[in-house]
Amino acid sequence: MKKVLAALAIGMLLISSLEAAAPKNDPRLELMQDMRTMMDAMEQIQRGGLYSSTDEMKAGVKKLQGTLKSLESEEVKSILPKDQVYAYKFAQKTAQMLRMYSDDMIVSIEAGRMDNALDDYTQLLKQCTSCHIRIRNW
Ligand code: HEC
Repeated sequence: MKKVLAALAIGMLLISSLEAAAPKNDPRLELMQDMRTMMDAMEQIQRGGLYSSTDEMKAGVKKLQGTLKSLESEEVKSILPKDQVYAYKFAQKTAQMLRMYSDDMIVSIEAGRMDNALDDYTQLLKQCTSCHIRIRNW
């Protein structure tokens, strides 16, 4: 009996620490986590560009693309202002643009066109800031 209880207690601990790492029930926290991942990704792409490491750049692009699903999903509404009808449509549009320019960046890197890749980077950053400026209330 003691053993069973101990096993249960350990199980509970494991579950609660997993939940702390990836809160499933609060889309807002998950989206904020994705925002930070996007920032990481942008930094990684930039670092890759400055050190001429195409692998690093591509890894950053992949990291960025990994977050786009949540930006495209309905869950994004949880971080958007409720009083702005256009906000959700706008979020979907920026997510699409992020996808398009990040796909294009991979193509540019693989073709050795760093000038194009830099343009793509600028466009990506524009999507972040244009949403932040329009939608964030600060
Ligand atoms: C569709 C809108 C939208 C787009 C696109 C967007 N963001 Fe955000 N971002 C938000 C909102 C809304 C918040 C949270 C505002 C608040 O503080 O309540 C946020 C917050 C953040 C934060 C702060 C997270 C925290 O821990 O508080 C970072 C960092 C961030 N975004 C990075 C990015 C980067 C990098 C990109 C582009 C690759 C990006 N965002 C694109 C809407 C967007």
